[in-house]
Amino acid sequence: MTAPALFQPLTLRGVTLKNRIGVSPMCMYSSEDGFATDFHLVHFGRFALGGAGLVIMEATAVDPAGRISPYDAGIWSDEHIPGLARVASFVAASGAVPGIQLGHAGRRASVREPWFAGAPLGDDAVEQGYPEGSPWVTQAPSAQPAGPEFPTPAEMTADDVRGSIEAWAAAARRAVTAGFRFIELHGAHGYLLHSFLSPLSNFRTDEFGGSVEGRRRYPLEVVRAIRAAVDDDIALSYRVSSVDGFEGGLDIDDTVDFARDLKAAGIDIIDTSSGGITTDRSMDTRVRRGYAFHADFSRAVREGADMPAATVGLITDPHQAESLLSHGDADMVLLGREMLNNPNWAHHALAALADSHEEWDIRYGSAIAPRAGTLARLAASGETPLTRFSM
Ligand SMILES: Cc1cc2nc3c(=O)[nH]c(=O)nc-3n(C[C@H](O)[C@H](O)[C@H](O)COP(=O)(O)O)c2cc1C
Repeated sequence: MTAPALFQPLTLRGVTLKNRIGVSPMCMYSSEDGFATDFHLVHFGRFALGGAGLVIMEATAVDPAGRISPYDAGIWSDEHIPGLARVASFVAASGAVPGIQLGHAGRRASVREPWFAGAPLGDDAVEQGYPEGSPWVTQAPSAQPAGPEFPTPAEMTADDVRGSIEAWAAAARRAVTAGFRFIELHGAHGYLLHSFLSPLSNFRTDEFGGSVEGRRRYPLEVVRAIRAAVDDDIALSYRVSSVDGFEGGLDIDDTVDFARDLKAAGIDIIDTSSGGITTDRSMDTRVRRGYAFHADFSRAVREGADMPAATVGLITDPHQAESLLSHGDADMVLLGREMLNNPNWAHHALAALADSHEEWDIRYGSAIAPRAGTLARLAASGETPLTRFSM
């Protein structure tokens, strides 16, 4: 029997994923001064034990001013490396490729955690228990807030822009030192890279704005700097907001064209998300958030830019995921909330698609005994039911 498409390996440069199931980056708001903690080790580690081929660690700030909240993970200093290395090492030893998303939240930084509605931190943040230095002045291509509730960001000078490119490259070097083999740039959701790209947030007239080419310059310079900073075999991903979802904003044709530039600059896979350029949700009507709601975008990039694309967004069922891959909508699937719900999703997917439990970690073997008589059947046939024991 042919292995399901979901369980075919995927090679991106020198990195081979054992299957096409990735954990989408998800901020956990559990760091102090950016440091990874035991929580990160356990949280990201359990996805690797659960069978995902790729575990992408949450948006990790390349600069303290680029944290979404004061509790975001960070990689702006060498001191962050040991904590991150524990996570990467455990993920790799558990059979998954350790990935990390590098980010800078730009004008959407300095906000509270999502369970406080992600509202911008006020001047009373420290009194409310947030760390010293909260709130902070945010940075953007132009002095335009991300929405009515946001403060006005500082417009970056051309020197600020050039200087920040090195922060991305240094962060990527640290990520590699920590053991990550897949590095994703967060170029979506209204954060710094996206805010340079979109005509709805970049009103500059210097070389970092003013035209399509100008708006693409900073993101592409960041990609080139990272590509030059890391070993050739490291896989690079770029998360795009495929569409802005607002009149006059980026549309999928812009994104496909940008993907061609990203490919030429050294990106190996595009992760197609959407939205976020402003917080005015009343206008964000273009993307209906049903099952697999970005599949048309990953397909468009894959076909239009002739390069691998990942799709994300309400992928919950193994048959649905299998169908996306086998119909050419994407090269891999990323799951966010469903992984929080069920970190063993990949194991269950293999059971659902191929009636196989061979990927289960033997230490969790007792969990499958009650399932469809698998152990009894395999014991009767004399086969070893569980083969993986990686550490
Ligand atoms: C708790 C949480 C945190 C998230 N943090 C990030 C992040 O750090 N970077 C990012 O690009 N997207 C982030 N997202 C978006 C997810 O990666 C994903 O694209 C989105 O949730 C849609 O996929 P899903 O329907 O499988 O959850 C986050 C989503 C959730 C639910």
